Amino acid sequence: MEKLTGQAIIVTGGASGIGKETALKLTARGAAVVIADFNEEGANQVVTEIEATGGKAASYKVDVANGDEIKALIDWTVEKFGTFNGIFNNAGIGLVKPFLEMDPETYHKVIDVDQHSVYYGLYYGAKKMVELGVKGTIVNTASIYGSLAAVGSFNYNAAKAAVVMMSKSAALELAEHNIRVVGVAPGFIDTPIIGDDVETKKFLAEQHMRGELIQPEKIASVVSFLFSEDASAINGQTLPVDDGFLSFKIK
Ligand SMILES: NC(=O)c1ccc[n+]([C@@H]2O[C@H](COP(=O)([O-])OP(=O)(O)OC[C@H]3O[C@@H](n4cnc5c(N)ncnc54)[C@H](O)[C@@H]3O)[C@@H](O)[C@H]2O)c1
Repeated sequence: MEKLTGQAIIVTGGASGIGKETALKLTARGAAVVIADFNEEGANQVVTEIEATGGKAASYKVDVANGDEIKALIDWTVEKFGTFNGIFNNAGIGLVKPFLEMDPETYHKVIDVDQHSVYYGLYYGAKKMVELGVKGTIVNTASIYGSLAAVGSFNYNAAKAAVVMMSKSAALELAEHNIRVVGVAPGFIDTPIIGDDVETKKFLAEQHMRGELIQPEKIASVVSFLFSEDASAINGQTLPVDDGFLSFKIK
């Protein structure tokens, strides 16, 4: 696959799961990656792992729900690596509660982390790319739950549906600046966010065509492709990477 040497790409939520695996793939293809996460220790470990393979990476502690911090992260990336070509707006959380218990705090927490963070990454990211005059790519993590309602997930459903439309809307206006915006909508991925209850994991696994949870490397492969010129005709869309989850109701 095409090399990404000379590019600097930010991966939010890069300390774990999908973000970590994507950082490993992007650095293996030559990009310098900033592992941006509020889990500083985890982010540092990922940097150590990448450096051990000869890759280029740095960690940055950030709360993605804070726009000023995202702006500072992007400025820091340019200082550190001399350029800025992409951001993977991926950090996210889930707080499951029945709708009648979906109090404002629980609602806003997920909207802040899963939705507003993507706006900050798009807004400050695109402005910096235009300022630098670089061709850029922005990839946003949505979810199958951006198009499918799930019990207890009103906040998460709302945030991820917004991410799908923000990717389209921003792509429309940024194309003339040589900035591509795309989304990825994972099925259930074997990462810490889904918890470690064996029965729950078995149930979730069965909702996929192959009856297995998807490994985070599989999402990372697609995201790494989306950052490349090979994907230059994909713009505004959110790609399901769900092993068929959205394609059937009863197996
Ligand atoms: N795992 C799944 O089944 C699944 C399915 C669909 C979508 N997603 C989405 O994929 C993305 C990555 O999730 P994952 O499965 O890799 O989970 P994960 O828990 O392994 O990774 C999430 C990372 O985000 C970081 N993070 C959380 N809140 C943050 C904040 N406010 N500021 C900075 N960093 C923060 C965490 O520290 C963690 O490193 C999320 O947006 C999630 O909603 C996951």
